[in-house]
Amino acid sequence: MSTIYDRGAPGRRAVALPELGQGEEELLARIPPSLRRREGPHLPEVSQPELVRHYTALSRMNYGVDTGFYPLGSCTMKHNPKLHEDLARHPGFTELHPLLPAEECQGALALLWEMGEYLKGIAGMPGITLQPAAGAHGELTGMLLLRRWVEDRGELGVRTKILLPDSAHGTNPASAAMAGFSVVSLPSDRRGMVDLEALKGALGPDVAGIMLTVPNTLGIFEEDILTITDLVHGAGGLCYFDGANLNAYLGRARPGDMGADIFHFNLHKTFSTPHGGGGPGAGPVTVSEALLPYLPVPDIGREDGKYRLVWDRPKSIGRVHPYFGNTLVIAKALAYILTLGDEGLRDASAGAVLAANYLKGKLKGTYRVPYDRLAKHEFVLSGEGLGDGIRTLDIAKRLMDYGFHPPTVYFPLIVREALMIEPTETEPREVLDAFAEAMLRIAAEAREHPELLREAPHATPVRRLDEARAVREPWLRLAGGCVG
Ligand SMILES: Cc1ncc(COP(=O)(O)O)c(C=O)c1O
Repeated sequence: MSTIYDRGAPGRRAVALPELGQGEEELLARIPPSLRRREGPHLPEVSQPELVRHYTALSRMNYGVDTGFYPLGSCTMKHNPKLHEDLARHPGFTELHPLLPAEECQGALALLWEMGEYLKGIAGMPGITLQPAAGAHGELTGMLLLRRWVEDRGELGVRTKILLPDSAHGTNPASAAMAGFSVVSLPSDRRGMVDLEALKGALGPDVAGIMLTVPNTLGIFEEDILTITDLVHGAGGLCYFDGANLNAYLGRARPGDMGADIFHFNLHKTFSTPHGGGGPGAGPVTVSEALLPYLPVPDIGREDGKYRLVWDRPKSIGRVHPYFGNTLVIAKALAYILTLGDEGLRDASAGAVLAANYLKGKLKGTYRVPYDRLAKHEFVLSGEGLGDGIRTLDIAKRLMDYGFHPPTVYFPLIVREALMIEPTETEPREVLDAFAEAMLRIAAEAREHPELLREAPHATPVRRLDEARAVREPWLRLAGGCVG
């Protein structure tokens, strides 16, 4: 694809700017000669149709939830209602200065306070911070809260370990380690759930807690969740639930009732605000009674219908984000909650689970399902055994030729050649059928024309890239040197 500099000709313009008028010389005189340009800037000179065509062509090279099915497991790429985008763009929010005193931004504080109340209700837990800007940031915040709790009990050098099932999301061990804990991996059993005997063996006075991804990255809900949390509490530890997969049980079960002491939301997944490209997101954290004293400041309090900032929390871990977090992401998520209501939220999780099981059912005769149980919001297939050395990467690349974004591949690590598929509740049945059809055709191609898969993608602007190099050595500057 050419750059905008490859189009146009000298003198062409896309817009007619008004003359600067008489003040030009006067204005120039105010700029010291040493700071003035000696030659004009190197700008593209294109007509409006050329400009529009160029950027429209570029935008068509993008793939997103607004262009097609995006079954990226663990990412919950659901449709983001446009109404919520509009609401978050309200100038009452976008034009607020973050340093305004509380009395001058009562509306924004009310929004944040109200969101906190809803999320505490959904989690069934008494405390919250809205500050974390992403799921992993919520995890780190949760681990810092746990560490402060351990410290406050005089057990800092004693309770040093966090238990982590091998089916946990990859950010979990990283967050525990960043907060200064050592990580002990727990194996899954044949059901794809925490091996209870291994858990009992690992528990002891040196364990600060467990971090569970619920449902886990196989898309399976821990049937023994109450036993697990009882065992950890019995050994004096606390339970962290990674709630990024809440889309599986939103409005149907509450982590607080299952024994969670710390729980993070990924608002940019479950509550339908755009996810991808690295943000911005929001990862609020709810906590049980025991951790209330350590929550970040400032908190938002309400008295006599007025909102204020609460700083008086001597044992707080402090701030984890400037101001109040990503407020506009929180605004979109609140709009989602208010639009759907209790029943709508319950329907969302029901739809997500139904879609995942429907799709799994269509694919399971052809693709291996290593842990074949009732799926929650997502399921994991293996691309192994399709024939002639075909790998999951080949399947993923070929899906692009059929017009679909590939699912997450090679994760979770406990499944060889994993394909992790999350359809979400916002796709109609025809789309699920078309995706299943493409997957089945690809499986047939793997047997009959394996080279089609090995050389895929065939229909994309660039063919198969060396992914590791593409990330480490991104080629952002074209040969002409125009795109810096
Ligand atoms: C289960 C799970 N936990 C944690 C995260 C981390 O969230 P984030 O990407 O917002 O940091 C993700 C990411 O999607 C996830 O799927």
